[in-house]
Amino acid sequence: MILVTGGMGYIGSHTVVELQTKGFDVIIVDNLSNSSIEVLDGIKAITGKRPIFEKLDLREKSKVAGLFQQYPEIEGVIHFAASKAVGESMELPLLYYENNLGVLVYLLQELNKKNASSFIFSSSCTVYGQADEQPISEKAPIKPAESPYGNTKQIGEEIIRDTCRASSNINAIALRYFNPIGAHESGKIGELPLGVPQNLVPFITQTAVGLREQLFVFGDDYPTDDGTCIRDYIHVVDLAKAHVTALERLIKRKNQSNYEVFNLGTGKGTSVLEVIKSFERVSGQRLNYSIVERRQGDVVEAFADTTMANEVLGWKAISSLDKAMASAWTWEKIIMNFKENKR
Ligand code: UD1
Repeated sequence: MILVTGGMGYIGSHTVVELQTKGFDVIIVDNLSNSSIEVLDGIKAITGKRPIFEKLDLREKSKVAGLFQQYPEIEGVIHFAASKAVGESMELPLLYYENNLGVLVYLLQELNKKNASSFIFSSSCTVYGQADEQPISEKAPIKPAESPYGNTKQIGEEIIRDTCRASSNINAIALRYFNPIGAHESGKIGELPLGVPQNLVPFITQTAVGLREQLFVFGDDYPTDDGTCIRDYIHVVDLAKAHVTALERLIKRKNQSNYEVFNLGTGKGTSVLEVIKSFERVSGQRLNYSIVERRQGDVVEAFADTTMANEVLGWKAISSLDKAMASAWTWEKIIMNFKENKR
């Protein structure tokens, strides 16, 4: 059985679908702080199976221990449960350290009591900061974190690395995500941002359905071809599949060491204006946007060197940007109608 913490969230729910499709038994633990119980129906509708769900806040250490006692068959953990808003982390650093690092320690302590267990960690390309070279390989140096959020990803990786060095009970993989976008093609699950979205793609689709007046493009005077920042946008379903591949690698003992790190991206850099053009192409709709000041803390460019993921992990992102944008757009229209029906 695989424990998926934060399994009701955006990347978590897509991963649960891929796990169940591959025949894994899943238990989701989530405190629903940034997700909705209806996600379970979406997962059931796609896979035909409702995963076990426990509403739990993992910051309560005794509850974490209780969970592992209740489900001794847990052999692996995919750990998504964490706070992820950069701005909020500047205001509430202790919340981020408690939520993102305290919980990580509790989970590792429980896994360490088992003989052989697998652990997959949600890390981020944010650990590289503004990398000196593109594409970014796993060997690129870790730069000082710009925010407590980013710092929790760096420290989280160090905690896992040190734990694996000291104990052979745990086999772990940290996955450094680039920019996940899009939704499941069934239209049953997708991203459900609370309040004003911070990320580009949900802001674009919310603008297009009329929830936001316009998109603000943060700066067009960067040293790139069109002056806007470059990122590596990866379809969330491709990303979800990488988690299953990583988990199977650990379960089948194909890992080369008991702590490994992989970048997960497409390997292709795309500018903000190119994302907008892709949206306009697939939606047949013009987007209302204007150029404003740069956003503080944004890096100019970040896209992945996918060699390790392709050749060692054996996984490759296959979806195009247009396909991912089309799925994000379909999903936005579905949740818009859903909200209207609820009114
Ligand atoms: C952001 C976080 C990153 C985190 C990731 C998680 C920052 C600085 N970085 O990544 O640490 O791991 O989210 O999801 O917050 N953009 C606009 N207008 C908008 C929104 C975004 O122009 O309204 C631009 C940004 O300047 C950037 C690109 O779109 O160039 C992507 O932004 P975003 O989706 O927020 O992702 P990151 O900044 O890459």
